[in-house]
Amino acid sequence: MAAFDISHRQLRHSQRIDLDTGVRVPVVQADAEALPFAGGSFDVACSAYGALPFVADPLAVFREVRRVLRPGGRFVFSVSHPVRWAFPDDPGPRGLTSDRSYFDRTPYEERDERGALTYVEHHRTMADWVNLLAASGLTIAGLVEPEWPEGHERVWGGWSPLRGRHLPGTAIFTCVSF
Ligand SMILES: C[S@@+](CC[C@H](N)C(=O)[O-])C[C@H]1O[C@@H](n2cnc3c(N)ncnc32)[C@H](O)[C@@H]1O
Repeated sequence: MAAFDISHRQLRHSQRIDLDTGVRVPVVQADAEALPFAGGSFDVACSAYGALPFVADPLAVFREVRRVLRPGGRFVFSVSHPVRWAFPDDPGPRGLTSDRSYFDRTPYEERDERGALTYVEHHRTMADWVNLLAASGLTIAGLVEPEWPEGHERVWGGWSPLRGRHLPGTAIFTCVSF
């Protein structure tokens, strides 16, 4: 087993969690577009809102995942549901009205006071994800769009029972490397 992230700081969080749980997860600092693992090393690969929305070339990531998986190995990953892109992240009624095109691939960017880029998140439509996976040679085995849980009343960031009952927040893909 191995876990990785491009951010050293994020790996420090992982090590802190290891101390709390008593479970040690080996970590390595690495770029998802160039994994430091031999081909066919893993049965399963997972990414929860990981590198994929933040890289300019997600196809390179999918190809790398395919390379390090054994034949029959599975890749499960989650991303923000593409539909969210077209709606403002507002838990109230404003969050139910589309204010930009679902098809607009302009990345979301944040800059510091000197104009230097500090955060970039790319938008891909559902068809983009499906076609990127197809191009990588990974086969989609399933797609889950979790629904707002019954009785869950918490408001968190842009999410609320009002908005969560209307819009999907997450897309979870399961893929197989044959
Ligand atoms: C939204 S966070 C999710 C982190 C973690 N999966 C979680 O659920 O807490 C996205 C993570 O992707 C990492 N990341 C961004 N680009 C990356 C890349 N090219 N290779 C590896 N990790 C990357 C960031 O450093 C960040 O830790």
